[in-house]
This record gives sequence, structure tokens and C-alpha cells, in this order.
Amino acid sequence: MDRFEDYNQIADRLADHARDGTTDSAPDILRIPASYYLDPELWKIEVERIFKRVPLLLAFTGELRQPGRYKAMKAAGVPVVMIRGRDGVVRAFLNACRHRGARVMEEGTGKCVRMVCPYHAWAYDERGALVKVADPEKFGDFDTAGEGLTELPCAEVAGLIFVSLTPGAAMDIDAWLGGFREELEKLEMADWEVCATQSLETANWKLAHDGYVDGYHIASLHPKTIAAFSQSNVLTYDAFGPHQRIGFAHHNILPVTEKPPAERTLNDGLTVIRTIFPHVSLAVRHGEGGVVSQLFPGPTHDTSYTIQAFLAPKVPETEEEKAMFGMRTKMLYEVVRDEDYKTVDGVQEGLASGAIPDVIFGRNEIGNQRLHKWIAYYCQETPDPSARPDL
Ligand code: FES
Ligand SMILES: [Fe+2]
Repeated sequence: MDRFEDYNQIADRLADHARDGTTDSAPDILRIPASYYLDPELWKIEVERIFKRVPLLLAFTGELRQPGRYKAMKAAGVPVVMIRGRDGVVRAFLNACRHRGARVMEEGTGKCVRMVCPYHAWAYDERGALVKVADPEKFGDFDTAGEGLTELPCAEVAGLIFVSLTPGAAMDIDAWLGGFREELEKLEMADWEVCATQSLETANWKLAHDGYVDGYHIASLHPKTIAAFSQSNVLTYDAFGPHQRIGFAHHNILPVTEKPPAERTLNDGLTVIRTIFPHVSLAVRHGEGGVVSQLFPGPTHDTSYTIQAFLAPKVPETEEEKAMFGMRTKMLYEVVRDEDYKTVDGVQEGLASGAIPDVIFGRNEIGNQRLHKWIAYYCQETPDPSARPDL
């Protein structure tokens, strides 16, 4: 099925919902205890069993296009560096020096021949091998073979670079993405550049994540911004294992879908948001790019941070393109900060006050229901594949 058929099918489903006053739904409402967002012990389990076990999208092909390009960052408190080797392969390492543990590469992106630790200038090649000990005569003799950076499992798929934060873990990216891999490949993100990144902070990562899969709040929380083009609560939800594809109807969904499919323009009348479990939302369009939001737990259960990466097939060049791009990045920053995350901070406070025993997810909030069922599934010590959530 080509991407146009996919879009047309989602658009037709949205049009039916818009006409009938319905939306994709779960069979029942779901209640989750407020402690789910408040318990530091549960939060630790989430970090250990989800963030440190499953593949995380940490970088984009566009950030590491040439050999020697690297990206260093912290993910769930773990220092990571990714670098593309001369053989074209991206590898990931714990960004901690074999000598005495210093951060080898400053956080950010760049290009280097060798990764050189700033503390005492030990150097590593693109495979993480220790290739230079400074002042070796004075340091003393030791066998440097096998004394390199600690490698992390890493895979590059569909323009996205996935890393597991557990050294030596088996990472089967095909099994992890399942049918979602094809969905991601169709976006052709490998050709896109990362034109800007910006970072925001808010409360618990699950509270932040809730906003990305919920189309129920658009009219109430975003009346002057997203609601200018998007309807509220008219949605399609498709699950690909723990990953989701969410269609949001625009106000013009009915006239758009009254046209014969061949006359429709891709993306006309709807927005499609994809989420990659556990922490990524892709608000991107074929041929145009968009914003990818990566959510990470902060240092405590009631903090998280989000990196917004703006991708596009081509870096803005003309003054006009730059101005348009600047407006978009500013708008998305402000909407998330002043509308979504301001609300999320309030939710954290409200729940911590003990005001309500549980939160209630409606049948229409099927994306949230799925998200939390999958979080519970992966929080088990040994998830049982025969008991995967079937919602
Ligand atoms: S800690 Fe890196 S060279 Fe000493
Ligand atoms: Fe929102």
C-alpha cells in the first residue's frame, strides 16, 4: 500500500467520524491511581526497565551524516556518544573515559577525527578503541587492547538512530519496530537535515507524554493555535505494538474527502502524529519535515525534559525561509511551554495535593490508554510476550 492510500484511508475514517460525531474509541474508560504519576519507586522501575532496556531514538541520520560526525547527550541520566565511522556505520558508546571516567565529548554535535578526553587527553577512535594514552612512559605500561569506550547496541533505521542504554544487551530493532519500520521508512527521513533543536522542561515524563497522544484537548487548551486548523476529539488511532499512529481531523476534512482520492493532496485535511514507544512523538509530514519531540525522565520522578528537533528536507537558506522557520520553531516552543507543559506542571501539583484518587481516561483517550498499558507491560521484570496489551 503506498503512502497516499494510507493517508486517504485515515482521511476517510476521520471524515466518517466528523460526519457521525464519533472518534476511534477504547471499549471502556480506564482509571489509573494518582500514585502512578507520583511514586518515586515506580519511576525508578520505569527508568530501569523501560528507558534502560528498550531501544531509544537518540539521534537522526542528518546529524551524523559524514564519517567523524558525532553527537553526545544524556539520556535518562546516562552519558552517550554516537559517532559515524569511516565504514559508514554509526556506533554508540557510554561517554565516559576509560581512564578515570570523565565525559569524553562535550554534549552537542560536531565532527572529529578522534574522540579526545579533555581531562588528560586520552584518545579513542570511531570504534571506541583507546588509541592514545598521554605521556605513556610516565603513566606506566599496560595493555590498551580492549580498554576502550564501552559500546552500546545501536541501529540506524529510516533516518533514525536507536541506542540501547544497556551494554551488551541484545537489540533487535526489526522486532522492536515490527510493522512500524515500514511506516517510518515511508517518511524518507534519512534525507532530512536537523535544522534546529530546542529543549523544554516539565513534570513527570508520563504526564508530558499524555499530551502527545491526546487530541481531546485541542479546542480547550490550544484555541488560538492548533485549534485554528485542527478539530478536537476527531481522531483515528492505529497501534503498531507499543507504537502509535494518530490521525487528527482538520476543519476542512469533509470538503477534502469529498474530492476523488486522485485529486487530494497529501496531508490535506489532517495531521498524522506518530509515537515511538516510550518517548518520541513525530509530528512530521512527507516531503516537508516537521518536529520530533524526544521525552526523557529528568533527575527526579516529577521532572522531565523534551528535546524538540526540527527536521526538513533542506536547511532554510533564503531570508524568507529562515524567517518562516524561525516563526515555526518559536511557535512550537511557546505552544508546548505555555499551553501543554504549563498544564502538565499543574497536573503534577494537583495530583501531589491528594485531591483525586485516580485519573480517568475516557474511551476517546485510547492513545493514553494504550500508552499506559504498554508502560505497565514493560515495567514487569520479565514481560511475557503472550500477555502483550491487546488494546
Ligand atoms: S579521565 Fe579521560 S583522560 Fe583522564
Ligand atoms: Fe497539546
